[in-house]
Order: sequence, then C-alpha cells, then structure tokens
Amino acid sequence: MILSTWITTLLGGLLATQGALAITLNVEDPDSIKSAAKTVASAMITYYNNRNEKAIPGKLDDTWWEGGSMFMILIQYWFLTGDTQFNNAVQDGMYWQQGDDNYFPSNYSQYLGNDDQVFWGLAAITAAELNYPERSGQPSWLSLAQGVFNTQVPRWDTSSCHGGMRWQIWPYQSGYQTKNAISNGGLFQLAARLALFTNNGTYATWAERIWDWSASTPLLRKTWVIADSTSCESQCTDHGDYQWTYNYGTYISGAAYMYNYTSGTQKWKDGIVGLLGVSDQFYPTGKTYDDANGNILSELTCEPSGKCDRNQITFKAYFSSWLAFMTTIVPGTSDMVMPKLKTSAQAAALACTGLSDGSHCGTKWYTQSWDGTDGLEQQMAVLGIFNSLLVPFKNEAPFTSDTGGTSKSNPSAGTNSSDVIPQIHPVTTGDRAGAGILTAVFVAGWSLAITWMVRGG
Ligand SMILES: *[C@@H]1O[C@H](CO)[C@@H](O)[C@H](O)[C@H]1NC(C)=O
Ligand SMILES: *[C@@H]1O[C@H](CO)[C@@H](O)[C@H](O)[C@H]1NC(C)=O
Ligand SMILES: *[C@@H]1O[C@H](CO)[C@@H](O)[C@H](O)[C@H]1NC(C)=O
Ligand SMILES: *[C@@H]1O[C@H](CO)[C@@H](O)[C@H](O)[C@H]1NC(C)=O
Repeated sequence: MILSTWITTLLGGLLATQGALAITLNVEDPDSIKSAAKTVASAMITYYNNRNEKAIPGKLDDTWWEGGSMFMILIQYWFLTGDTQFNNAVQDGMYWQQGDDNYFPSNYSQYLGNDDQVFWGLAAITAAELNYPERSGQPSWLSLAQGVFNTQVPRWDTSSCHGGMRWQIWPYQSGYQTKNAISNGGLFQLAARLALFTNNGTYATWAERIWDWSASTPLLRKTWVIADSTSCESQCTDHGDYQWTYNYGTYISGAAYMYNYTSGTQKWKDGIVGLLGVSDQFYPTGKTYDDANGNILSELTCEPSGKCDRNQITFKAYFSSWLAFMTTIVPGTSDMVMPKLKTSAQAAALACTGLSDGSHCGTKWYTQSWDGTDGLEQQMAVLGIFNSLLVPFKNEAPFTSDTGGTSKSNPSAGTNSSDVIPQIHPVTTGDRAGAGILTAVFVAGWSLAITWMVRGG
C-alpha cells in the first residue's frame, strides 16, 4: 500500500509538471465513476463560486438558463452518488430564481425564451422525481415544475403554423418569429414527465399535442431528422437544419416518459427507436474524428470548427443523462444507448487533463486529450455523461406519486401572477414601433439581452 501510494504520488507529481494529470475512470466500477464525477463537479462548482454575480444565488454571469441546467445535472449527481456537498448551493439557487413559482423571475423575464424557462422546469421535475430534499416554507419541486407548465401552455401559438411554442416570448426579441425544437421539445418533455409523476391526463394530452404538432413541421420529420428551427412567416415549412444533440435528447426523453405512461404504446417506441437511429450521427466517423471510430459523442455542428458557444458546449450533458434515465423506464433501450455512452465517457475522461490540477475538461472528447478550452460548461458536459454511467448501477426509475415520490402537487402553481402571458399576436407596424421603444428602454437597462438574442442553438 505504502509503496504504491508513494509511486502514485511520484507519478502524479511527474505528470502534473507536464500538466497532464488525467482523471482515472473505470466505466465498469461505480466507485471509480463516482470519484471521477466528484472531481469534475468540484471543478465546475469552483467556476460557480468564483463568478462575478455570486451575490445572486443561481445566476451565472451573462446567462440565466444555464443555472437551471447546471442544477439539473447536480441534482442527478446527488441522486446517483449520494454526495450532498453541493445541495445547499443547489437549493439556494433553485429557490432564489423561482419567481412566482414558475421560474420567470422579473429580473430576467423581459429577455427570456421559452427554452430558457423550461430548463428550470426540467430541473424542478428532476428534483421531484428523485426526491431531492426540499426546504420547509418553500414551494415543492413538483409545484415549481407545474408552474412552468402553467405559464408556458397559454403561450401555445395558433396564429401561425396551427400551433407550436415560439422560441422567444416577446415580440421585440429576434427569435419571436421562430418556432424551435428545444422550446417545443422542452415543454413536451416537461409535460410527459408531469403526466407520469402525477398521473394527470391533462399533461399527457399536452405532451401528445406538442409531439403531433412538431411532427407536422420540419421540427420532427418522418425520417426522424429534427430541424433546429422553422419560421412563423413560412407557416413552419422552412427549416434551419443544424443538428444538436439536445434537440434529439429532449424529444427522446419525452417519448420515453410517454411510453411508460401509456404502458408501452407503439407510437412512442417508434419515436424512441427512430430518433435514436438518427442520433447515431453524433458518434461520427471519418478523418476529422481521428480514431473515435463512431464511438465518441460529438456536438458535430460546432466541434470540428472549434466554434461551439458556451450554450452548445453543455448540450452533451443533457443528451447523455436523459438517454441514460430513459433506460430505467423503457425496457430494452439500455443496449441501444449505454455502450456508446461508456466509450464516450472514457474519451471524456482523457479530455479532462487541463490546467495545473489536471481536472479541467475540454470541449471535444473525440480528440481524447485536452483541447485547450476550459469552463463551467465543459465540466457540466462531462459531469452529465459520468452521471449517465451511474444510472444502471443505481438502477432506480424516477419516482412518481404512486411509487414513493413525495413532492406535493399544486396544479394551479404559477397562475396567480402577471407572468401568465398568453400568445401575443403577430406584430403590426404600429406594434413594431412600440416594441422598438420598449427594446431601447430595455436594452439600456439590460445590455445582457444582446448576448441572449444571439444565442443560436
Ligand atoms: C434581482 O436583482 C437584484 C438587484 O441586483 C438582486 O438583489 C436580486 O437578488 C435579483 N433576483 C434574482 C432572482 O436574481
Ligand atoms: C415503466 O417503468 C417502470 C419502472 O422502471 C417499469 O417497472 C415498467 O415496466 C415500465 N413500463 C413499461 C410499459 O415499460
Ligand atoms: C390536472 O392538471 C390540470 C392542468 O394543470 C389541472 O387543471 C387539473 O386540476 C389537474 N387535475 C388534478 C386532479 O389534479
Ligand atoms: C394571488 O396574489 C395576490 C397578490 O400577490 C395575493 O394577495 C393572493 O393571496 C394570491 N392568491 C392566491 C390564491 O394565492
């Protein structure tokens, strides 16, 4: 023991001087995965603790939505590892940003998109499903997820394309004329999860409505290719076809909950299998991908060019963890998703040799070495895939109200507020002028809005 410790220390020292202290990961050993996850999570939280806006719980610098998605991944992490050390920070942030029980806090609501809000709702339903600790005197996790659902559903927009969620909420936002996959897929997933947790058919009806509507547009094609976005002007016939992992992940996950909720209906199984088939593109082969051999998850639209923005860097976290949780509620999917998640996680560990402590991850995993980038987002992506490896070891399905889920339902959460904004009809010229003034006032106060409007995805 002493000798091997001594050798490890020596070796560690040697490697550290070369800046190449890798994260050890044995994908078949839960203790090894937990330890790797802890290392990656700790480095992530260090970014969080050192942010400029650290006086505001849950608010990351220059982005609001990523707080919610980060907490979602940390809630999974707690469930899968039992490590409670981040729970206070997670609870502080999740409660501070709750708004009127609907994750639409007035500080930021003027420039949020439906996708931004829904990610906090997905964090809340994750907390409900995993029986994440609640604080007394605070709304339940389930009710917070219901609050997001209740504020989004009135925004269902039939003034174009016979339905659909717009990307952005306000007419003065550039994405207002767009209907996109993540906003629709996000609410679809949230509704499906609420249906399974509460057994309330209203949520299932909405989930199916959103899926069917998506399937009437390029957002969910018969070939199972998901377009990222489509425009209201074209009545949702045109399409921006950038391929992103999280778009597939959100529809697959929602279909998985619906499959389970409907006791195994073929429609949802077909969707899962079809979308998984097209998702194979995210395990690319070819010269660019070196010896990845089709086994390493890649955000292929931006990674080879090195142009992933901070949002896009996180997508692999959602894709991998959502697919892994699916295996607990849709029998037969484990063999379809786990092998490539394992090889990807192994590669990700090799990409986490950055900075002096050798625990900072790069953006690309297929290079199987650190690519020189680092950040909270890179850590989050790797934590997501490490979480996914732990799902089969934990081997527990998300709780529902019938199977031990304790979070309390409040079907009318979030509705007693001015945040319930019904769909706003297409802007006339007069409205545009008004919106222009609003925008000017707004941008003066919120220069961050600019960052948000350019968010691609
Ligand atoms: C809103 O902004 C104020 C002023 O910066 C800050 O004190 C408060 O914590 C913010 N609230 C949220 C929910 O971010
Ligand atoms: C739904 O998930 C539960 C929990 O894992 C499982 O026992 C059940 O068989 C699943 N239902 C279907 C139809 O696969
Ligand atoms: C089911 O959900 C809908 C939509 O939120 C709500 O209006 C209704 O009261 C819920 N029903 C039950 C029994 O909770
Ligand atoms: C609705 O909000 C108002 C104003 O905040 C409050 O006075 C009232 O008690 C709320 N009603 C319910 C049912 O929560």
